[in-house]
Amino acid sequence: MDLKRQFARPEGLGGSLVGRLMAVINKSQVEDVVRELAPAPGERVLEIGFGPGIGLATLARAAPDVRIDGVDPSAEMVAAARRRVRRHGARVRPQEGTAAELPWEDAVFDAVFATNSVQLWQPLAASLAEVRRVLRPGGRLVLGVLERAVTPDGGSAGPYFDAGLLPELREAGFTGIESRWQPSNLGGTELLVRAVRPAS
Ligand SMILES: C[S@@+](CC[C@H](N)C(=O)[O-])C[C@H]1O[C@@H](n2cnc3c(N)ncnc32)[C@H](O)[C@@H]1O
Repeated sequence: MDLKRQFARPEGLGGSLVGRLMAVINKSQVEDVVRELAPAPGERVLEIGFGPGIGLATLARAAPDVRIDGVDPSAEMVAAARRRVRRHGARVRPQEGTAAELPWEDAVFDAVFATNSVQLWQPLAASLAEVRRVLRPGGRLVLGVLERAVTPDGGSAGPYFDAGLLPELREAGFTGIESRWQPSNLGGTELLVRAVRPAS
């Protein structure tokens, strides 16, 4: 099994196994990202690249009246996430798709978040434009990326990932961009980024 490819886009039995692994090793980072998102009652939130669904489930538990959609290109991850959030009914809806083509109308989400997934979005500029499109004016984007998160070429995001990402966010029209690196409980560091779709 090509482990890195499975982390980037889990497929088949190997993908399901990698999904189980991610559910354990990334749990505390995903919880950090959901905390950073700080969902407010009644909001509608989208997670992109949810993998095994830990972020969807954590958010659903933390914010009982938030409506949550999710998109991930891996059929195995959609199935795993659906099992994980089944108890929340139609309030949490994981579906197949990619960041570059989000199947929602304009301005429907109060917030969008993603953990260890933005480094895989291709093309990045078009994907960020899609995120901006589905966010309401004033809506926020929260991204978490492990320094060791796998990239499409089988490398890792690395300790300077923000140097490339932040200009792309500005270029896509986001404002209020804040970022920080913090220690990861897996060793190395993790990047947390916040950005806002301008109110007008
Ligand atoms: C490393 S896993 C991270 C899963 C989970 N968010 C976590 O942190 O444990 C990356 C996930 O992003 C998904 N993904 C890959 N390319 C994507 C894209 N272009 N748009 C959205 N999700 C993507 C993969 O299918 C995979 O489930």
